[in-house]
Amino acid sequence: MTESETPLLDLQGLKKEFMHRGSKLTVLKNLDFRVFKGDRVVIMGPSGAGKSTLLQVMGTLDSPSEGTMLFDGEDIFERSSKGLARFRNDQIGFVFQFHHLLPEFTALENVMMPGLIGRMDRQQAEDRAVKLLTQVGLEDRLQHQPGELSGGEQQRVAVARALFRKPRLLLADEPTGNLDPKTGAGIHATLRELNEETGVTVIVVTHDPRLAQTLPIRVLVDQGRLIPQQPGDPRLEGRIPAELMDCEPQDAGQKRLVEAIARQEAQDGTTAEVGA
Ligand SMILES: Nc1ncnc2c1ncn2[C@@H]1O[C@H](COP(=O)(O)OP(=O)(O)O)[C@@H](O)[C@H]1O
Ligand SMILES: [Mg+2]
Repeated sequence: MTESETPLLDLQGLKKEFMHRGSKLTVLKNLDFRVFKGDRVVIMGPSGAGKSTLLQVMGTLDSPSEGTMLFDGEDIFERSSKGLARFRNDQIGFVFQFHHLLPEFTALENVMMPGLIGRMDRQQAEDRAVKLLTQVGLEDRLQHQPGELSGGEQQRVAVARALFRKPRLLLADEPTGNLDPKTGAGIHATLRELNEETGVTVIVVTHDPRLAQTLPIRVLVDQGRLIPQQPGDPRLEGRIPAELMDCEPQDAGQKRLVEAIARQEAQDGTTAEVGA
């Protein structure tokens, strides 16, 4: 990141409200955050804090109630709904907790699907799908249907499918939420490799401190805003507002989570020199 670099995502004063049974629920408020090209970001926070809502807005699946989101400098919600759909298809890859693969198709067909829908040449689509499945370590599972794959393998197929159209941003909402720890770690390793090989920007929501500490840019959803997971973390400079750099999480559960991450880092000998 350099001073002059245009952020891939620049969220400014974002607010998101829902009307629920006649009363207003404010989930995100005054949220400012910048993500630079090639960043690997982890978002944590208690259940109901607004993590999924934020990812939906970042992926333009939902629009903010107020505020602006610039994508590579463009005010993206100024686009028509058709323009937004095209933008999403071209630029964003989604991976969810439950993979949403099509059960009656093979791994290969599932990954090719975005190409077939986009009327890409079949052979070309197949070649790309094989390449992606090889990248996620599934070259021996091309003809398996989802029901014939383990949970972790299914999730790797979902990652390959999300990358089919060469998105610039990969959004993953608890992608390892229903996997055992070892398989979850494998998915994170895959995301990291893809980030390093292709430069795709990755934003992940997870509850797992061991997985969180493998991502360098770490934020918490706290009272509708994003704050550092570790107050003063220099890796967040230029990404969150200066006045929030030393902000501590309000919630006791959050504090425990942050402590768990710090312990894990110390144990693994990967402690970042925070504040150094
Ligand atoms: N479409 C909706 N209508 C009303 N309330 C919603 C809607 N989507 C989410 N919420 C509420 O917004 C809050 C944040 O939800 P969510 O973003 O899913 O949290 P998280 O992913 O952090 O667990 C929750 O209280 C949830 O009930
Ligand atoms: Mg959620």
